[in-house]
Amino acid sequence: MDSRRMGRDLDKVLLSAEQIDQRLGEMAAAIDADYAGRELLLVGVLKGAVMVMADLSRKLSLDARMDWMAVSSYGSGTKSSGVVRIIKDLDTDLTGRHVLIVEDIVDSGLTLSWLVANLRSRGPASVEIAALLRKPSEAKVHVDVRYCGFDIPGEFVVGYGLDYDERYRSLPFVGTLAPHVYA
Ligand code: IMP
Repeated sequence: MDSRRMGRDLDKVLLSAEQIDQRLGEMAAAIDADYAGRELLLVGVLKGAVMVMADLSRKLSLDARMDWMAVSSYGSGTKSSGVVRIIKDLDTDLTGRHVLIVEDIVDSGLTLSWLVANLRSRGPASVEIAALLRKPSEAKVHVDVRYCGFDIPGEFVVGYGLDYDERYRSLPFVGTLAPHVYA
């Protein structure tokens, strides 16, 4: 998507495509080093993590497996409901596997803390988290994010996989929306 099509809906660009690309490269290098000699399963959380998964996985030297889950935590508003429901479960048996959850954003942390507990109950060797974005000011529960891209202010952001009411996911950057969009 071309940002010019957003018109007045875009407030500002928070992270450019170049900044995201560079940071994902650094995260991939850390993951490569930490998981050297081990089999890694990347678990992407649909739909927001699609871009992070696509770009991060291609920067890894190791040959990671990939699987996807879909959970619901947001409706069309901008606040977490705290209620998490599995919409699509994994196809992979996690027993004995090293699992790295790939997420777009940690906001309240409610979704991820639930997901980590859920995946840990399936007998994996380890479960860690890689998230492109984190909003420390919005945290309601502590979530241990092993690989974090950027800490950002507590504003609602879109782009690079993140949506507002299913729009703006295909923007190549992360930006904030003008308040009139969700007022
Ligand atoms: P949490 O449970 O509050 O941490 O929220 C987790 C999910 O809410 C994320 O995976 C996103 O799908 C969505 N979310 C949280 N903050 C934002 C945002 O600023 N923009 C778009 N989606 C968000």
